[in-house]
Amino acid sequence: MFIQQTKQNVRMDYRLNYHLMAEVGWMNDPNGFIQYNGEFHLFYQHYPYKPVWGPMHWGHAVSRDLVKWEFLPIALAPDEAFDRDGCFSGSAIEKDGKLVLMYTGHVVTGPDTDQDYKQSQGIAISDDGVNFTKWGNNPVIGYDDIPEEISKKDFRDPKMFVRNGQYYIVLGSNDAKGNGLIILYRSDNLKQWTYVNVIAASGGQLGDNWECPDLFQLDDKDVLMLSPQRMPAQGEAYRNLHSTMSIIGKLDLATGLFHAEQYAPIDHGFDYYAPQTTQDDNGRRIVIAWMDMWESEMPTQEDHGWAGAMSLPREVLLIDGRIVYRPLKEIERYRSEVYSIHDFILDGTQEMDTRGDSYELQVVFEADQASEFGVKLRTGAGKNGLEETVLSYDIKTGLLIFNRDLSGIGPGGERKAFVPLQDGRLSLRIFVDKCSVEVFANDGEVVMTGRIYPSADSQGINVFSEGTSRVVSFEKWDIR
Ligand code: FRU
Repeated sequence: MFIQQTKQNVRMDYRLNYHLMAEVGWMNDPNGFIQYNGEFHLFYQHYPYKPVWGPMHWGHAVSRDLVKWEFLPIALAPDEAFDRDGCFSGSAIEKDGKLVLMYTGHVVTGPDTDQDYKQSQGIAISDDGVNFTKWGNNPVIGYDDIPEEISKKDFRDPKMFVRNGQYYIVLGSNDAKGNGLIILYRSDNLKQWTYVNVIAASGGQLGDNWECPDLFQLDDKDVLMLSPQRMPAQGEAYRNLHSTMSIIGKLDLATGLFHAEQYAPIDHGFDYYAPQTTQDDNGRRIVIAWMDMWESEMPTQEDHGWAGAMSLPREVLLIDGRIVYRPLKEIERYRSEVYSIHDFILDGTQEMDTRGDSYELQVVFEADQASEFGVKLRTGAGKNGLEETVLSYDIKTGLLIFNRDLSGIGPGGERKAFVPLQDGRLSLRIFVDKCSVEVFANDGEVVMTGRIYPSADSQGINVFSEGTSRVVSFEKWDIR
């Protein structure tokens, strides 16, 4: 009711065209991502009443193609003893034709809500994928089931998966001594759970608490994804307050030990957190994340009535031993108004004869004699002076640089990621949508995501080069 009555008050200025947002109010983590009876269901951390984080509900949307979403009624609200202060993040699984959600119940235990709380896990079940009933005997993993060496407070975000006919969850936690942990539990029936082991730990270097784990098979490897909090930067990587990480390795189900081989950031930009994956009916592994960052200014919180959005869903692939991320082919169906130009030499800045605030752009550069080249998006006069969002490539260091210092209102800053040229070329596939930019470099080897808040009429696109480079191709489609 509240949502239906208030959603027309949401200001449209920065509303995204092809990314999921809450109808009104606040959104954070994706939850319960699953294809069920052919349709994709995505739930999300949601506070409908204000565009700020509050007692968490699970918002719910469905889609046939992962581009256009339809809203369903709120799936979970905090209304039981074990979840009275929030239905925190979790996941979905199909069992005997029913859709089962598992999530964290959050309970505040004292006056300092940032410090005084406890968490346990519960389930909710649906016959139709729309109406959910919380199980009568929740929690299924209570406070007393938490082993000694693990935090009694931070114990959340169960991600379910099936192996050899058994159910498993990974959970995020810490050792109460400043190290993030991922914990594994096993079950036959989703109601009784047995602790297996700590499968991964930060070891002092990788963040003091780990959130939102996910574990899945990719070819012959196991991949663990997680969101480390307050992880120190490593060179240009992990520069946000909180990060995301994928670890490739092998999980030994009997011992619950995960043999990690290598880890890497999932996204190298500013705004990407709490990614969750699912496998669709065609066997694709698809990841989606919250396209924002905790404790980073969100201009739509001011007086727009909404805050928070999802990234584009991305396909996760293992290529030559590394994880790459690609846009789904479904998005291509929404292309219109192609603008394309091939093969021209660039020296200095060239304004392109096309504009927009909601499009896909594919540019291939050949470095040639240049020391630096790139593309400027959302350029314009702006109310407070020149606006531009700059993606530049520095030949000497091999760094792709995303700079949003002049992007408009909202936070600025720069993120860099190493992207080797391929045969002297850099290919960028860029998705711009009203207040977001997602860059897939060299076919998804590196992805950089950031929110920007330019003036509405800053819609220009420039390419530039210090010294001569060649634009092999420049192709753009509007996406609506
Ligand atoms: C991650 C997170 C989760 C938690 C949820 C609460 O962004 O902190 O660990 O379940 O958000 O909204």
